[in-house]
Amino acid sequence: MFGVGIDIVEVQDIDVDKLYKVFSNCEREYVDASTNFDRRREVVAGIFAGKEAVFKALKLDSLGLQVLRDIEIRHHANGCPFVCYKGKVASNIELSISHTRLTAVAVAFCLGELPVPLEPLGKGTRP
Ligand SMILES: CC(C)(COP(=O)(O)OP(=O)(O)OC[C@H]1O[C@@H](n2cnc3c(N)ncnc32)[C@H](O)[C@@H]1OP(=O)(O)O)[C@@H](O)C(=O)NCCC(=O)NCCS
Repeated sequence: MFGVGIDIVEVQDIDVDKLYKVFSNCEREYVDASTNFDRRREVVAGIFAGKEAVFKALKLDSLGLQVLRDIEIRHHANGCPFVCYKGKVASNIELSISHTRLTAVAVAFCLGELPVPLEPLGKGTRP
């Protein structure tokens, strides 16, 4: 199985305090290490875009608060992001994040079994 996900986020729409409620301690510590306030918002936007891109790559049904918590974006010492899913390193997911002062984008690839089996949508319906 193979999944791909992409997401783009407007940095100005980011509410840092609200998103911190679904960020893990590691995610918050990483953001807090960015000293400049504007830059902090950008980093939050990048992580949030990362979570949404992974959500799409995993082909999950709906992006609720629990899913946003289940998908954790962490970073190696060299700055490269990696993904933990439900507390475990997801070595089958690749993630890339980029951001400017205005927007953040992320692309994720998932190789291997998806966590939830997919069912086709009935005619004339939307999820
Ligand atoms: C990768 C790099 C070239 C991106 O620079 P950029 O074009 O200015 O920034 P972008 O917005 O496109 O990308 C930034 C994102 O790339 C990711 N990133 C950083 N280093 C990375 C790396 N080595 N490999 C892959 N992705 C990386 C991060 O998610 C980062 O977002 P963050 O700063 O919010 O954590 C730059 O961060 C770099 O040279 N990193 C090398 C290592 C480094 O300086 N580490 C600092 C800690 S020692």
